[in-house]
Amino acid sequence: KNIVILISGRGSNMQAIVNTAIPNAKVVAVLSNNPNAAGLAWAAEHGIATAALNHKDFANRMDFDRAMMQLIDEYAPDLVVLAGFMRILTPEFCAHYENRCINIHPSLLPSFTGLHTHQRALDEGCRISGCTIHFVTEVLDNGAIIAQGVVPILDNDTADDIATRVLKVEHQLLPQAVADFISGNLKIVGKRVIKSNQVD
Ligand code: GRF
Repeated sequence: KNIVILISGRGSNMQAIVNTAIPNAKVVAVLSNNPNAAGLAWAAEHGIATAALNHKDFANRMDFDRAMMQLIDEYAPDLVVLAGFMRILTPEFCAHYENRCINIHPSLLPSFTGLHTHQRALDEGCRISGCTIHFVTEVLDNGAIIAQGVVPILDNDTADDIATRVLKVEHQLLPQAVADFISGNLKIVGKRVIKSNQVD
């Protein structure tokens, strides 16, 4: 099965997927909206096809997304993974990859969609934070949840401390979610995702 990963920066979650042996899966391309994304160089060094489409070169979001879809589809993906891809996607893009596109988000959804999740969790006095892997729908950070990981928020934490703690969990959960998807284990029932080996 072909996996295409979209990144915007460092790409540590992408690296976690590439470094995990997932049966029947191959990361066929790592793509970015940011030509300077550090993760692109890492992927290229590891023999993976890479390309960047700079969103600033496009007149609007729809043009960018259409070009991105065309590029992605050259790799015939079974799964598209948004791993720190910091662009909001058009409904057209989301529909095109419906039920075969997943995102990792650094909060316990449905709390704290969008940006600056760790600072916002701190500001709200939350005692826990975490990350969520979910299917992508046209509503931002709102699709069916595949997996969540929880970390404590400690008394003297900064947002960076929480981010570091959460990132470790992201690196565990995301490859596992990809493996579950690739093995055909995930079944979407309304807003819930059931592992098929748990279904009667
Ligand atoms: C991760 O924390 C991800 O959840 C968030 O941005 C970060 C990306 O990190 N959306 P990386 O590029 O995977 O290292």
